[in-house]
Amino acid sequence: MDASARWPVPVIAGNWKMNKGPRGAIEFIREFTARYAPVDAQTVLLIPPALSVFAVYEATSGRRDIQLGVQNIHWEKDGAFTGETSAGMARDSGAGFVLVGHSERRHVFGETDEQVRMKVRAALGASLTPVICVGETLEQRKAGRVQEVITNQLAAAIEGLTSDQTFAFLVAYEPVWAIGTGVTATPPDASEAHALLRVLLEKQFGPDGAAIPILYGGSVKRDNAQSLLAAANVDGLLIGGASLDAEGFATICREASRT
Ligand code: PGA
Repeated sequence: MDASARWPVPVIAGNWKMNKGPRGAIEFIREFTARYAPVDAQTVLLIPPALSVFAVYEATSGRRDIQLGVQNIHWEKDGAFTGETSAGMARDSGAGFVLVGHSERRHVFGETDEQVRMKVRAALGASLTPVICVGETLEQRKAGRVQEVITNQLAAAIEGLTSDQTFAFLVAYEPVWAIGTGVTATPPDASEAHALLRVLLEKQFGPDGAAIPILYGGSVKRDNAQSLLAAANVDGLLIGGASLDAEGFATICREASRT
C-alpha cells in the first residue's frame, strides 16, 4: 500500500507536550473543529497528553478525519510499571499513533536508541503507528555530525523491520536546537536532513521507502509552515508550541492544504 493512500500528505501533527488536561482538550476541539473543515488530501494528527486522549477521541467522534496519538509508550504490554502507558492502553483510548524517541524523551528522560527500538516494536505489535523522531543537538551539528547522528538514530529504531512494514511508521526530523527555541531550520537545512533519512529508508525498504512520510519539527509557526512544507522531502510538520492555540493551529492546517 502506498503511504499516501494510508495517510494523505501533508501530515500536520500537533504535539501538545505536557499541556491541556481533558477539559482544556475538549475546549480546543470545539474551537478547532469550528475553524477547520475536513480536507481529503491531508492528515491532521493531534497528540495530547495521555490523560486527555480519550476525551479528545470522544470530542472528535464526528470528525474521523482527525487522527489521534500519544506522546510516549512503555515497551511492555502491562504490569508493575507505575506511571507508564502501554501501546494497548493507548489504542484502547482511541490513539492510532505514538511519538517515539522525541528529543525531550531522549534528552530530558534519558531514553536510549535501544529503548526507542523496543517502543517501535511494541507500537507495531499493537497496531499503533509510531512517528519515529530523530534529530541532532547544536553541538553535533557544529561538529559536522548531522548525518551520522540522525541516520544512526533512525537505523536503530527501524532495525529488523521488513518491507511489509514499510508503511507502518512515519519519521520526524526535529533538530534539538530548533525545538521550542524560536530558531527554525531553513527549508534547505530540512530538505538536506530529510534526504539523508530518505536514503536510509530506500536502502531498507526499496523504492517504496520514497513514500514514507518524513515530517519536520522545531519552532514551526504559521509564518514558516508553508515554506517548510514546500521544501523537497518534507511531507508534513510536527508542531509543538504553535499547536496549542486552536485558531492558530487551524489556520496552519487550512493553509497547509493549499500548499
Ligand atoms: P516546537 O516543538 O514546535 O514548540 O518547537 C516541536 C516538537 O517538539 O515536537
